[in-house]
Amino acid sequence: MKRRIGWSFLALSVAVSCSGSPGVDVEESTRLNPAAPSTDVDAITPTATATVPPTSEPSDLVESSNPVDPASADLAGVGDSLYPTLGNGGYDVDHYSLAIDVDVDANVLDAAVTIEAVAVDELDVFHLDLQGLEVQEVTVDGVEASANRTGHELVVTPDRPIADAAPFTVVVHYRGMPEPIDDPAVPFDTIGWHQRETTVYVVSEPSGAMSWFPNNNHPADKATFDFEITTDSELTVVANGVLEGIKEVGGGQSTTTWRMDDPMTTYLAAVYIGDFELQESFTADGLRIRNYFPPAFADDLDDDFELTADVIDFFETLLGADYPFDEYGSIVLPFGIGFALENQTISVHGLDSTDPYTIAHEIMHQWAGNSITLGDWQDIWLNEGFATYLAYLYFEDRGLPSDIAPIGMYAALRGGSIGPAEVPVDELFSPSVYFRGGMALHALRVEVGDEIFRKILVAYYARFAGSAITTGEFLAVVDEVAGPDAVAVLDDWLYGPDLPAFPE
Ligand code: ARG
Ligand code: ZN
Repeated sequence: MKRRIGWSFLALSVAVSCSGSPGVDVEESTRLNPAAPSTDVDAITPTATATVPPTSEPSDLVESSNPVDPASADLAGVGDSLYPTLGNGGYDVDHYSLAIDVDVDANVLDAAVTIEAVAVDELDVFHLDLQGLEVQEVTVDGVEASANRTGHELVVTPDRPIADAAPFTVVVHYRGMPEPIDDPAVPFDTIGWHQRETTVYVVSEPSGAMSWFPNNNHPADKATFDFEITTDSELTVVANGVLEGIKEVGGGQSTTTWRMDDPMTTYLAAVYIGDFELQESFTADGLRIRNYFPPAFADDLDDDFELTADVIDFFETLLGADYPFDEYGSIVLPFGIGFALENQTISVHGLDSTDPYTIAHEIMHQWAGNSITLGDWQDIWLNEGFATYLAYLYFEDRGLPSDIAPIGMYAALRGGSIGPAEVPVDELFSPSVYFRGGMALHALRVEVGDEIFRKILVAYYARFAGSAITTGEFLAVVDEVAGPDAVAVLDDWLYGPDLPAFPE
């Protein structure tokens, strides 16, 4: 039987909050709180909630059917262990400028995307990742290039080769209706650009970014972004970073500009268009929090998200590091999607996923996942294990009930788990990743004590903020700060089929 994916569970325990009862569901929280241990694991045992996933179309993500010339195969993928055809070799992107006209009713894009990149080899051909849509023109340094499509690879042959180490600018003009992507990691859903009712929303982890703009679709290639989104003036447009301005362009249309000045991975790039009400506040340190809520639910949601500033303060203290970006906020969709996603500076929550635990979890991802990013999808536990356990620490520290606690995570894993640092692609968002990954950190804390545990977190973040890493780099920090016995504890939790004993 297929496992139910981890984040759906996060939403499950709080399904009540969308029906007008915001806040912690005390019954659920008590069940999972260490203060009230219980053997009632049904609420969180993955198989207990499993449903048969719909059969999805075969994906070209995992086993590539692309007739790529073997001599240039590395151009069609960065060699990710789980997604060999995602991302592209041969260059690094510095910046994406996304100029997109959006007809929300028809869900049609008319776009010009400018990509500023640097070659890391001499390139007579290079790839971008783009699925669906109609490419009208590609230029490289202002000269028309030839472009061919094969699967999700957009193969670009510039008029003349690009020299090794040369900066170059690619402009891709394209239009059409984005098709959300079937990704083997998310069998219950599609990812990428979606339009529902009168709302446009993007949820791209892991591979969905290529459903709406051409890019180097791997987290190891981070770049800055700007967004110029033109649509109906009545609608609110939200994207990553800082809002630069809104300009009327005639015909009842406006262009809204957002800038993301800190490097960001493609799966965290997001655009929302619809009817949203802005609620602003500030943390004690003056960080601006701007939340976007559907007007009909704004008052309740304002209460739900009130903990945001306190959670940010807690994580800044825990990691000894400022919140990594210029602003933060959450956007809540006017319908449920069963999960939330930590887009850089603008986490998105389905209307059914606004419980305090999920809010804290997405905030933690701004450090773990967004600032420190994955060098390989196989290391997803570095995102999800950290967000799961460090969000729990907030509730523990503040003496608040939490939907997630070690006793509950462990009980869920008794139904079967594998090492979170070696999951196959269809377990990327499984309890093994969230709970066994979270438990690995709990076991480390029990082994070394609170003080050394915190030193490890501080050293890890200080060293790798802003970069893309793999599990080995985290283990090296643990070894330096706490020694080989601490690494051995993590090894048991991170690798192999056997669930270690509950740490005490
Ligand atoms: N990283 C997200 C979270 O923990 C999970 C996203 C799952 N991906 C998806 N497309 N549904 O909280
Ligand atoms: Zn997460």
